[in-house]
Amino acid sequence: MKSLPILFLGIFFTLAFSWTGIVLVSHIQLGFLEPATPELTNAEEEAIAGVLFRDPDTGRMVHGRNQDGVQANPMPLVGSAQRGLRVYEQMGCLYCHSQQVRRQGFGSDFERGWGNRQSVPRDYILKERVMLGTMRTGPDLSNVGLRYSELWQHQHLYNPQITSPGSTMPPYAFLYEVRPINPVTGPSPIAIDLPAQWALPEGYELIPTRRALDLVAYLMSLHQDYELPEIKFTE
Ligand code: HEC
Repeated sequence: MKSLPILFLGIFFTLAFSWTGIVLVSHIQLGFLEPATPELTNAEEEAIAGVLFRDPDTGRMVHGRNQDGVQANPMPLVGSAQRGLRVYEQMGCLYCHSQQVRRQGFGSDFERGWGNRQSVPRDYILKERVMLGTMRTGPDLSNVGLRYSELWQHQHLYNPQITSPGSTMPPYAFLYEVRPINPVTGPSPIAIDLPAQWALPEGYELIPTRRALDLVAYLMSLHQDYELPEIKFTE
């Protein structure tokens, strides 16, 4: 066992080398990214200087950049949408859906209308879990929050055939509850409307569970419709 130290040194250097390459270098390149505010040109800056805007939060009139102008992107996931990320993970949506728009010339992501620029690392820095995905049995969901209404999302999750006839996506009907309408209080305000063809029996309504509401809040939060210093919209 003369060569034991050499064996250990060999193992050590192999591990140290891959750690440097995979962990350390990535951290140096991407570990310090922060949300970015849109950079305005001098002309744009001048154009809005001294102009009054109504602040949507307080309702008061403010000078200079409006609330949209100082919005830092990406925005953090909060509340229901953050819980919805867990549901997305648990339901295995990742196995059929990606969340990354490829750059022009790599596949037909732009032609399919999945985004108007490629995704960059900064888009994901505030996500607790990143659902990039590698399979695309279904469409890319990076910008799905911009494509449909909440009602569409609920109908589609309850039964994909309602919105997308012939779809091979499995139904997630167990995230919904079919229950009799309360005779005293009447239909629930959160009941999901269904097209006549898919209507429930008379006197019943479709109620989304907490998890369905969270999942849809998460889907509605998915959008990469902002420019960043390193990436502009593709022409
Ligand atoms: C077995 C594969 C599969 C799984 C698992 C799956 N989907 Fe899908 N999904 C599809 C296919 C195929 C389509 C395209 C047809 C359609 O619209 O239903 C689709 C479409 C969609 C769309 C519409 C996208 C668009 O741009 O038209 C959304 C939103 C969606 N899925 C969300 C989800 C969510 C959320 C989950 C997890 C709860 C999930 N999917 C799980 C296959 C899948």
